[in-house]
Amino acid sequence: MALKRALIFLGPPGAGKGTQAKRIAQRYQVPHLSTGDMLREAVARGTELGKLAKPIMDRGDLVPDDLVLGMVEERLAQPDCAGGFVFDGFPRTLPQAEMLEAILDRLGFGKPLVIDFHVDEETLFRRVAGRWTCSVGGEIYNVYEAPPKAVGICDRDGGKLIQRADDRPEIVKERLRAYEQQTRPLADYYQRQGVLETVEASKSVEQVSAALTAILERSQRQEQGRDGHL
Ligand code: AP5
Repeated sequence: MALKRALIFLGPPGAGKGTQAKRIAQRYQVPHLSTGDMLREAVARGTELGKLAKPIMDRGDLVPDDLVLGMVEERLAQPDCAGGFVFDGFPRTLPQAEMLEAILDRLGFGKPLVIDFHVDEETLFRRVAGRWTCSVGGEIYNVYEAPPKAVGICDRDGGKLIQRADDRPEIVKERLRAYEQQTRPLADYYQRQGVLETVEASKSVEQVSAALTAILERSQRQEQGRDGHL
């Protein structure tokens, strides 16, 4: 199966974007591009970008557009992005969305397909509070919903499971505020372009995954139909 397009997952912290992006990326054999993971890696490596981003991420604000865009543009230039990719947590502001449009155009990709994850706030807090992530391969667990077989250890590669510094409730509130103010308006932006789909993401991982598969398959049939009529 080929993706051949940019897939964008929009949604608040804890909506399940990363969990689903990993599955889709694996199914279509395309890169999962999480700007949050890229920034955390820069912080862990102590790069200039990481040093600038750390205090901003620690307080739950968004990292400035120019820093994020530079990082994304560099990543998209890698050959593994040629067959499409899944963005998780990008774009997050209107300028990021506009710049992405120009970049996709330049790379020869058409319009992206954007999926908006809808989840109630109580569920978000519970998910984030229970999240543990593998420090080696990035596998995502949840002590309530999807626990590892052995406490604190990744089933897949035996890596140590860690909690994110920005998952403390007071920081999650700030992240939600940033989402409401700066990211939620993107749903309207993409709705106007006719590329927005929504998914009821409060459901189980398997149910959300099935809903995403149905959306993707329908969208691919529509694309093929359009190409066939050219
Ligand atoms: P980022 O890492 O992108 O965090 P986020 O968008 O806040 O999203 P999360 O990773 O918290 O949640 P998710 O939706 O991926 O949920 P997950 O699948 O893990 O960003 C972090 C920071 O980096 C930002 O605050 C900002 O500072 C900076 N940043 C990043 N990108 C930026 C950008 N473009 N511009 C500027 N700044 C940027 O799931 C959560 C939990 O729920 C897990 O435990 C999982 O197991 C569980 N779960 C998932 N789905 C289900 C389900 N269906 N049922 C039950 N449990 C589930």
